[in-house]
Amino acid sequence: MLAPNPAPGPWQRRGADGTGSGFGTEQGWTMSDEVDLGRRQLLTNATALTGAVGVAFVATPFLASWKPSARAKALGAPVEIDIAKLEPGAMLKVEWRGKPVWVVRRTPEMLASLKTSTPLLADPESEASDQPAYAKNPARASNAEYLVVLGVCTHLGCSPAAKFTPGDVTVSADWPGGFYCPCHGSKFDLAGRVFKGVPAPTNLKIPPYSFPSPTRIVVGADAQSA
Ligand code: FES
Repeated sequence: MLAPNPAPGPWQRRGADGTGSGFGTEQGWTMSDEVDLGRRQLLTNATALTGAVGVAFVATPFLASWKPSARAKALGAPVEIDIAKLEPGAMLKVEWRGKPVWVVRRTPEMLASLKTSTPLLADPESEASDQPAYAKNPARASNAEYLVVLGVCTHLGCSPAAKFTPGDVTVSADWPGGFYCPCHGSKFDLAGRVFKGVPAPTNLKIPPYSFPSPTRIVVGADAQSA
């Protein structure tokens, strides 16, 4: 049961002019309160209406574009990537079959570092590693400028960090640049080739991919799998 309204307090009796005239009532209820409540209700209704309209306009295009993508992902459909704005030395990340895929646009210096790293590698020719035939070369790519690689460590599946700067002391002073997995210290060069003496047994995996145009890559489909 509701308690009776208390007698109006001093704050209820004070008007804008501080005189308090005309604000008190016998129920401890004021005209000002009624006006405020009415205004509040109006604002609540307006907010709810705005929210509903917002949801209707925002949700429809979101669902329309999201549903086919989710279905495509579940089926392992290829993923097309626009690389037109990918700067030399930069990396782009996408998801394919629930796994991260990295696309690195390698600079001439990055490609030169592959020669420096070769003596440090466990499988420089990618004999024991997993890649399509067109990526079984020192750059591990069909177009040496672009590395397309699964960002999943071949040890226990962590996602290594990009450490592109040669001599990065967070890895080692003689670091040629590449990827470093902080989970157990595995190292990979800028072609995803694994270093000797680390827990990861093989190079990072290269997925099937193709270039339908100079500015687009399709991950998950190539001439061999088509
Ligand atoms: S998961 Fe990468 S080193 Fe263990």
